[in-house]
Amino acid sequence: MPVITNINDLKRLYQRRVPRMFYDYAESGSWTEQTFRENTSDFDQIRLRQRVAVDMTGRSTATQMIGEDVAMPVALAPVGLTGMQHADGEMKAAKAAEDFGVPFTLSTMSINSIEDVASATTKPFWFQLYTMKDTDYVSRLIQRAKDAKCSALVITLDLQILGQRHKDLKNGLSAPPKLTPSTLLNLATKWGWLAGMARAHRREFGNIVGHVEGISDASSLGAWTAEQFDPSLDWGKIEKLMNEWGGKVILKGILDAEDAKMAAKLGADAIVVSNHGGRQLDGALSSIRMLPEILDAVGDQVEVHLDSGIRSGQDVLKAMAMGAKGTYIGRAFVYGLGAMGQAGVTSALEVIHKELDTTMALCGERSIDGLNRDNLLVPQGFGGRWA
Ligand SMILES: Cc1cc2nc3c(=O)[nH]c(=O)nc-3n(C[C@H](O)[C@H](O)[C@H](O)COP(=O)(O)O)c2cc1C
Repeated sequence: MPVITNINDLKRLYQRRVPRMFYDYAESGSWTEQTFRENTSDFDQIRLRQRVAVDMTGRSTATQMIGEDVAMPVALAPVGLTGMQHADGEMKAAKAAEDFGVPFTLSTMSINSIEDVASATTKPFWFQLYTMKDTDYVSRLIQRAKDAKCSALVITLDLQILGQRHKDLKNGLSAPPKLTPSTLLNLATKWGWLAGMARAHRREFGNIVGHVEGISDASSLGAWTAEQFDPSLDWGKIEKLMNEWGGKVILKGILDAEDAKMAAKLGADAIVVSNHGGRQLDGALSSIRMLPEILDAVGDQVEVHLDSGIRSGQDVLKAMAMGAKGTYIGRAFVYGLGAMGQAGVTSALEVIHKELDTTMALCGERSIDGLNRDNLLVPQGFGGRWA
C-alpha cells in the first residue's frame, strides 16, 4: 500500500492506472485552460494568519450543509463518467462519502444509475440534474431521484452547451471506449482497470441507456449533449423544475452576483459558486476570486457553497473563512477513485480532513463556524470587481 500524504500522490497513481482517455477527460479545462489553471493558482495567492497560544483541544470540523450534518464541509461534486475512472465508481465513491460522513452528488451523466447508488448506500445522496429537451425524460429522472430518497436536487446551470475540451475530441471520448488501435495500445497497459471493468455492473450511461428511446449514440458525451441538452433553459424553467422537485434545491454553476440574486430570489436552499472546474467558459474568473462579490450580494439570503480548484484542506479553509458555507471536490476525489477505488476516495477525504483540521489549529480556530475573514491574508483587490 503506497503512503499517501497529499492529493498529488493520488493523482500520480491515478495517471498510471486509468486509461489515458479518462485521465485526459478529468484533467482538462476548456480551450486554453486559463480558468482551469487559475482555479488553483488563485487559491495560492491567499495566505493564512498564524495565531499562537490558543487552546486547540476539542477541535471539530463538523458542521452542516443545507441543514444536513457533515463531518467536514466538503461534498463530492457531481462528476460524469465516474464509473469509467474505476469499475462501479459512483457506487464506490458514494459508499466512501457515506462512511466518512460527507454528501455524495450523483451526476445525470453517471455510469451507475440512481438505483445502483441507492442500492449501495443507506443514507440519502444528492442528485444532479442536467436539463434536457425531452421534458418527459426529465420528469422521469426527477421521479426516480424522489423514489431513491435523494435529499437534494442539484440543478447545474452552466452547461446548456458543452465547452470544448480539445483532448476529448482528439481521444474520441466515449463510454465504453471505442476500440481504435491507439486506445487498444493504451488499454493493454491498464490491466487492473480492465479486470475491474470486466466485472462492473455497468459500462454505459446508467441513467440514460434503457430510459430514453431513439438516441443516435449514447456512448458519446459530445453527441448526446449536443442533441439532448436544453439550450433554452432560463429562470422560468428553473423555477418549474424546483416546483416539480418540491424538496431542497442547490443551484450550481453561479459565477456572477446578478445571477446569484436571481437564484436567491427563486428560493434556492444553496448556490454553488462554480465555473465547472474550468471546463465551460474559458476566460471566466476563478470561483474563489468571485466568492467575495457574490457573498456581498446574497450571503445573507442563501447558503453559498463553492467548488473549482480545491485540492487541499487549506483550500477548504480559505473558502470557508471567506464566508462560504460548504465546498465540493471534483478532481480531488476522482484521483483517489482512479488510484485505489473506494479506499482511494476515503484516502482523499482523509488527506483533506487532516489538512483542514491542522490548519484550523495553527490558525487558532477550534470550529468551522469560528472561521472568518480574519484568518486570511488576501491580496488587495483580490475579490474586487473587474471592470
Ligand atoms: C471529469 C469531470 C466531470 C464532470 N461532470 C459533471 C457533471 O456531470 N455535472 C456537473 O454538474 N458537473 C460536472 N463536473 C464539474 C464538477 O461538478 C465540479 O464543478 C468541478 O469538478 C469542481 O472543480 P475541481 O475538479 O477543480 O474540484 C465535472 C467535473 C469533472 C472534472
